[in-house]
Formats: sequence, C-alpha cells, structure tokens
Amino acid sequence: MDKLIIQGGAKLHGDIRISGAKNAALPILAATLLADGPVTIGNVPHLHDITTTMELLGQMGLELTVDEKMNIEVDASTIREFFAPYELVRTMRASILVLGPLLTRFGRADVSLPGGCAIGSRPVNLHLQGLAAMGADLTVDGGYIRASAKRLKGVDLVMDLVTVTGTENLMMAATLAKGVTVIRNAAREPEVVDLANCLISMGARIEGAGTDTVRIEGVDSLSGTTYEILPDRIETGTYLVAAAMTGGNVRLKNTRPELLEAVLAKLNEAGAAITTGENWIEIGMNGQRPRAVSIHTSPYPGFPTDMQAQFTALNCIAEGTGVITESVFENRFMHVLELQRMGAQVKVEGNTAITTGVDYLKSAPLMATDLRASASLVLAGLVARGATEVDRIYHIDRGYETIEEKLSNLGAHIRRVPS
Ligand code: EPU
Repeated sequence: MDKLIIQGGAKLHGDIRISGAKNAALPILAATLLADGPVTIGNVPHLHDITTTMELLGQMGLELTVDEKMNIEVDASTIREFFAPYELVRTMRASILVLGPLLTRFGRADVSLPGGCAIGSRPVNLHLQGLAAMGADLTVDGGYIRASAKRLKGVDLVMDLVTVTGTENLMMAATLAKGVTVIRNAAREPEVVDLANCLISMGARIEGAGTDTVRIEGVDSLSGTTYEILPDRIETGTYLVAAAMTGGNVRLKNTRPELLEAVLAKLNEAGAAITTGENWIEIGMNGQRPRAVSIHTSPYPGFPTDMQAQFTALNCIAEGTGVITESVFENRFMHVLELQRMGAQVKVEGNTAITTGVDYLKSAPLMATDLRASASLVLAGLVARGATEVDRIYHIDRGYETIEEKLSNLGAHIRRVPS
C-alpha cells in the first residue's frame, strides 16, 4: 500500500490534461457484452476500477487487448461464464453493471450482491425491480443475484428515485429487449448520455438520454464499434478546487465546461475568475483566499455529490461560513473527521456540514476512506502548514489518474511512498 506526502503551501500554476471519465468508462466496458463484434474504446483512464472491470470481463472469457494509449478492444464472442464473483464486486460496486447486459443478451447472470459501502447503504433494489418488470426471474441466494430470462420485454418503468447505474443497467437491458422500454425519472448525468451514445453507435435505438425520460426500442442484435469516452467532469472539478484553495491560476485541457455548470457557478461565488473555451477551463485566483460557499447536492444538473467533499475542504480554509447539505448519500461526511484533525472548524448535523473557515490548516497523518473523501484530504494537504501524509490511497487510485504527477506538474510538492 502507498501513501502520499504533501508539503503544503505551493500555489498551483500551469496546465494539465483531463482524463476520460471513470463513470462513463465503467458502464461502456460493461456494454461491450452486448455487441456481436469487437468494441474499441478510446480515452479510457488508467485507473484501478478500470483494471478491475477488465479483470471481471476477462474472467468471463472475453478477449481484451490494450494498447499503449489505453485504447481497449473487447471481444465478447469468446464468453464462457456469466458470473461476477464477490471478490471483485466487493472492491467495485459498479460491477453490478454487467447484470443488465448479461441477462438481455445471454439470458442468464450470477452477480454478487454488492455489500456495504463507506458512503451509504447503496442498495440495488431499483435495478432488480426494473429487470423483474421486464420479465427476468431473479432470486438472491448465498449473497448472489441469480437471474435468468428468455427474451426480456419492453415496459414502462417509473423509477422511485434517480439512480445513475440503475438507469444505465436498465437502458442496456432494454437495447435487446422485445418492444419499447420507457425509463421515467431517469438519471440525466452526462455519463448516462455517453453510454447511450456508445450504444447508439452499436446500433441501439435510444431517444431522450440526458432528459428524465429515456425511450429504448429493442433490436435483435448490436454490432461492434469504436468509441471515445467523454472527459471526466469530477476530475476537472477536483483540480479546479485545488487551484481555488491554493490561490493559483490553472488551465485544464481536454475537458467539457458545459458539463460543470453547477460547479463553475460555485467557484465563481467563491471568488474565482473562470474562463472557458470549447474544451478547456481556466481558473484564476491570483493569490486570493476563497470565500465560503453553501451547497446542496442533487442529481445532475444539480451540484454533484462527487464534488461535495472537495468543496467541504475548500470551505475549511475559506473566508466565512458555508453550509453543505448532502442529499444523495446518507453517510458521505467521513472526510470531516480527518479535516477536523487538521484544525478545521466543521460541525456535522444530520446530512449538513457547517464550516467556518480557519486561517490555516495544520498537517496531520490522514486516512483515506473513499474516493472523493481522499481527494478532499489531498486538497487540504496542499494548503496545510507542514507535511501531510495521506494513507490508504488505493481509494484515490480508483478514480484519479496519476494524481501526484498532475499536481506536481502544477507545482505542488507531492510524492508517493510505500506505507
Ligand atoms: N439507490 C437506491 N436503490 C437503487 C439504486 C440507488 O436506493 O437501486 C439510492 C442510493 O443508495 C443513493 C441514490 O439512490 O442514495 C443515488 O445512487 P445512484 O444509484 O445514483 O449511485 P450509483 O449509480 O451507485 C453513481 C456513481 C457514483 C456517484 C453516484 C451519484 C458510477 C460508477 N458511480 O453511483 O460515483 O456518486 O452515481 O452521482 O457511476 C464516485 O465516482 O466516487 C462515485 C461514488
């Protein structure tokens, strides 16, 4: 296991390139199960969760080829198992995304039920309810979802709440179902749209992705394709907050500003000057201290829960008091306990964190608990007095490609050492 050591105090300057979106790459890798021919995916981020998904597909018998640029070619024609084991699912809940594709294309799937999670209970009941309504026979036995179906049938689904991977799983299942499926109260996240666009390029008939009503007309088969993953809006947002906290001036390339409206608005409110072009964002703080902001997380296009921890860190050193309400997950304030150990003034009341900014944070040994919480600890380390050690950074490696290299390129003093 590795840890990161960050010497705080450097203002970030310069430009970096944003990687492909983890949360689009994961469902798109699962979607390769649907295609009759090879699927080639470009702009795939080099991340631990991607390796886990490749391992999962490889264990099922799929042929995967990766080139030096992380273009991944997947050929599902060699599949021999329809099984996602607990050992892999417990390390990555997104493994549940193979359920819909396996069931709709091969009529069977045994997928481990994901267990507990550091950010909330995160059940998958809505994935299962939707598949059952489409005619799947599902039982839970020995910790596994055992699913079978003849051909799934199109139905009108009203989702009880907005779920990103739930929408993705059901959308993939519907592509090969008989008839038309309508998913109402669907997730509108850009990653859902990216998956839909990839499926469409495979021959799927999907309308309305990116709105709350997605209509899918099932087809008999899908073909191979070549597809480029969209840029990671959460990685983009994380580096923007890093620049804002350190008072720096940074340009992020290969990103999509229109996918970050809620985040950019909050950075503006915090005092950052934001300039955007078609595929870049520039943030200028010119050495100023940010102002605290208040935030309420909600599904897209609302403020993303995946940016909540980073803004909590920003509020810790900002001028004034900020109130952050987490409404998507019930237990996503684990980072607060670590930030308090650095001298942050944060009070958590239910799903709200009230932060009064302090003049400076002090370094401390810190423990990463989940992906975005870990990112917030790295951000805090960038501005803390002294050397901050963040342990258990395998959480960070799940979602941030070469974070220490990218931050070093911007002038941060950060290094990775074995713990
Ligand atoms: N929920 C249910 N039942 C379900 C599904 C979801 O009650 O069947 C609840 C969840 O417990 C949660 C809410 O619905 O309270 C929303 O969860 P959602 O299903 O949307 O989350 P997810 O699909 O499991 C994805 C991302 C997360 C991101 C959330 C919210 C992927 C692989 N993961 O998770 O990303 O936080 O949407 O935007 O796309 C991350 O990247 O750090 C991360 C956690």
